[in-house]
Amino acid sequence: MTDQELVKIARQVQQNAYVPYSHFPVGAALLSARQNVYTGVNVENSSYGLTVCAERNAVFKAISEGETEFEAIAVVGNAEGFTYPCGACRQVLAEFAPQMRVILCDTDNNIKVYNLSELLPQMFLL
Ligand code: THU
Repeated sequence: MTDQELVKIARQVQQNAYVPYSHFPVGAALLSARQNVYTGVNVENSSYGLTVCAERNAVFKAISEGETEFEAIAVVGNAEGFTYPCGACRQVLAEFAPQMRVILCDTDNNIKVYNLSELLPQMFLL
């Protein structure tokens, strides 16, 4: 699975985002060590604080299916520039794969790749 392929899956699923409040759809595609892909979108709620981000939905789907090891996640939004995972999502990703690759793609198809440890330095892990 190439970075471009993972980004393409994230772009496709982004269409399913439920975003009646922010109108900011986010798509995520999480690649497990077994090479399975789990997608996620942000799902908002009229009680705004109950909103769950795309990245966390992808992680929770994958864990629910018995996956525990991850290699990479692609994240796309519609902002100008890159859509970076929020702090909460970085922490949830770190729980399972502190060294995973985080692939971001902007609307002009520019790709930026980080190691999660760069985005969440001195991360809290037990
Ligand atoms: N959002 C994500 O899905 N992932 C992020 O990493 C950043 C924020 C969502 C949450 C909310 O539905 C919308 O983007 C605006 O904050």
